[in-house]
Amino acid sequence: MIRINIIGAGRLGKTLAALARRSGRYRVQDVMTRGADSAAAACAFIGTGRPVTAWAELAAADLYLLAVPDAAIADCALRLAETEVPAGAVVFHASGVSGSELLRPAAARGAHVGSLHPAFSFADPAIALEGFSDVLCALEGDAEACLVLRELAQAIGGRPFQLAEGGKPAYHAALSVASNYLVTLTAIARRLAGQGGVPEALLTPLLGGLMRQTLDNALALGPQAALTGPIARGDASTVALHLQAMDDADLRAAYQALGRQTVALAGERLSGQARRQVLSALAPAEGSGS
Ligand SMILES: NC(=O)c1ccc[n+]([C@@H]2O[C@H](COP(=O)([O-])OP(=O)(O)OC[C@H]3O[C@@H](n4cnc5c(N)ncnc54)[C@H](OP(=O)(O)O)[C@@H]3O)[C@@H](O)[C@H]2O)c1
Repeated sequence: MIRINIIGAGRLGKTLAALARRSGRYRVQDVMTRGADSAAAACAFIGTGRPVTAWAELAAADLYLLAVPDAAIADCALRLAETEVPAGAVVFHASGVSGSELLRPAAARGAHVGSLHPAFSFADPAIALEGFSDVLCALEGDAEACLVLRELAQAIGGRPFQLAEGGKPAYHAALSVASNYLVTLTAIARRLAGQGGVPEALLTPLLGGLMRQTLDNALALGPQAALTGPIARGDASTVALHLQAMDDADLRAAYQALGRQTVALAGERLSGQARRQVLSALAPAEGSGS
């Protein structure tokens, strides 16, 4: 049995620990938090494990998961490196944005280091435990750590894939753009439609249908083939009218910045002249600095 210590047993830590235990291939050993109550509650959820609150109490293990908040990972890696981590053990965290560079103190002591980020929400551990199936898990780290983490990801029901070295910030930015900015775009579209007089009750059917259809097209056909609208047609006067309708300078700047990305996406569908005219309509306002 592979021994795993869990340091930080909140939403993600205790769920991954319970999944590892359930796989039958891992023995959840020590479960460490700063408070005795939270460590005991996590062990009850996992169904096994020894609650621990001090670094010196940690027994040697094969795997160490640092499932503490992102801001605490580097400090915990330092504290862990001061304990007896066996050479060759794998120390990993689950942050989406940072890589194994946060674990350098453990690597300096002979541990293999990596990160395993499940693209999944652990908001409610009981629901997450039952719903964790075929979840994409981004791996990063040294070769030995990635090998061990790949096996762990598969054992708990994940679908592991490898990121490029140093790729975590760009990977996480992709998830934020895809998720958060989609919500922001929805809010902007609702505001503009409301300003134009669309009744409140029709905002969702009007925009929802279009957004769903567009997303389906972008995913099925690819972004370039799915692109329609004034920019792809080279219609600079429509773009100028859109901008005139926006009374918020920040919104105009955002529309212009995304518009320039859209011109790049349209590529050769735009003639040289059409591209120049649209880019001129989308040029940042003087003094905006963008
Ligand atoms: N939640 C998600 O959906 C999700 C998804 C993907 C990745 N992640 C990643 O998973 C990691 C953990 O996130 P989370 O949402 O599970 O956090 P969380 O629910 O806030 O849990 C954090 C845990 O760490 C413990 N802790 C905090 N500081 C500590 C320290 N200095 N030493 C030891 N234990 C400490 C806390 O218990 P005490 O306060 O009792 O110490 C708690 O058990 C993060 O890297 C996050 O980016 C989370």
